[in-house]
Amino acid sequence: MEVRAKKSPSAGVPIVVGMMGERRPAAGADELLEAVEDVADAVFDGVGFEGKPGQSAVVTTSSRTVVFVGLGDEVDAEGLRAAAGTARKAVDKAEAVATTLHEVDVDGALSAVIEGFGLADYRYQSYLSDPEDRAPLTLEIVGAPKGLKAVAADSASIIDAVALARDLVNTPPRDKAPLDLAQRTTEAASNTSLKVEVWKTERLRKEKMGGMLGVGLGSQRPPCLLTLTHSVRKPKATLAIVGKGITFDSGGLSIKPSNMMETMKADMAGAAAVIGAMIAIAKLGIPVQVTGYAALAENLPGGGAQRPGDVLTARNGKTIEVINTDAEGRLVLADALSLAAESEPDLILDLATLTGACKVALGEKIAGLWSNGKAPTDMVSSAATAAGERVWPMPQPADYWSLIESDIADMRNSSSSRYGSAMAATLLLEQFVGDVPWAHLDIAGPAFVSKAEHYIPKGGTGFGVRTIVELARAMSS
Ligand code: BES
Ligand code: MN
Ligand code: ZN
Repeated sequence: MEVRAKKSPSAGVPIVVGMMGERRPAAGADELLEAVEDVADAVFDGVGFEGKPGQSAVVTTSSRTVVFVGLGDEVDAEGLRAAAGTARKAVDKAEAVATTLHEVDVDGALSAVIEGFGLADYRYQSYLSDPEDRAPLTLEIVGAPKGLKAVAADSASIIDAVALARDLVNTPPRDKAPLDLAQRTTEAASNTSLKVEVWKTERLRKEKMGGMLGVGLGSQRPPCLLTLTHSVRKPKATLAIVGKGITFDSGGLSIKPSNMMETMKADMAGAAAVIGAMIAIAKLGIPVQVTGYAALAENLPGGGAQRPGDVLTARNGKTIEVINTDAEGRLVLADALSLAAESEPDLILDLATLTGACKVALGEKIAGLWSNGKAPTDMVSSAATAAGERVWPMPQPADYWSLIESDIADMRNSSSSRYGSAMAATLLLEQFVGDVPWAHLDIAGPAFVSKAEHYIPKGGTGFGVRTIVELARAMSS
């Protein structure tokens, strides 16, 4: 997407303006409303446009096209981001769009508007025989404030990072074995200052990554750990982010029913968010030391696969009885969290499509947030809010430990009861972070969705990228 400063929209380019409740023009909309007044009301009546969030109405006269987009009465940055996305979808064939939405008086309006247009412009066409040949959108910012260039460049880094995460999630599982993802990430990071490291089987053995090796046993395509490091001089803080990267989750020998397997190429969405966010953080030059870990493995049944009843030793020496091979995310995270904790960062955040139970509890739009303290919860909640991603704090009840007590090992990887199984998972994760402040986002719901909405496409969403970037930004000040 190209962003341009304009005094007035170019001829023939549709202009997007905001409307509040009861069809009251938002800032920057008065003149345009006046210009099309004689036809606007009829169009508004025809499509039931009132100015509510999610609504839009396209009014075309002989001289111009105006896209009215609803903001409601209490708009914030996320409302603008969503409105920009809705507007883009309303004129999705246009190669250029002009807007005054950034004039609405909220903090961060300009970047939210640019992000909304850019994120809505995403399309996944890599596997189409006849992809639509579309020029990237030109966005005209009418009456642009000073400093547009810098804001647009930062927004572009975020839009590109989210698009990369979406692409990785949408990629068919045969084409994204652990080492394929490591390769693609290495290429994507090659023009940044990130240091990329890949631990293959031999190294995983030497480093005692028993969880990752165990999960990878059923696949002919080996697991690997991908590490991305963003180093800065005199960092303001240190942050570790860890992503679950199961490139396909069949359940392993505890095989899933086929309908539950259909979307399991998305089980690496946590890793995809980490990869996208690390590239954005490097491009933005955020003055925080950030290390990203992607724990990549393919969970398949096979002659070499781990069995229910096997016992694994994770990197920190703790043993896990594998009761259910479909509870594999926590096994790879056990190793990656242990490793992350060794460098004692100020905060560890992990992102994982960890449990169906969390998706049942919170649906497709909200991620569950767990932690080992109030400070990590507050940090991640406020970063998510600033980013416009929805998370909700969940309990970490110590007395639920009995759910994963094992007769023969330090713990078991799954509970015999369905009830509280999201908590059983997070109580296990907590065993691997030591005393380091830690938060966990279960993104099973919002990482891959069945329905498109405003700037969010159907399929891979890139959820988490923006929260991670905001978290790093917040830790830098
Ligand atoms: N990857 C799944 C969780 C999942 C389910 C993500 C649906 C997105 C949508 C995870 O590995 C899994 O299989 N979890 C099991 C855990 C159970 C075996 C204890 C689950 O949630 O059923
Ligand atoms: Mn599973
Ligand atoms: Zn999984």
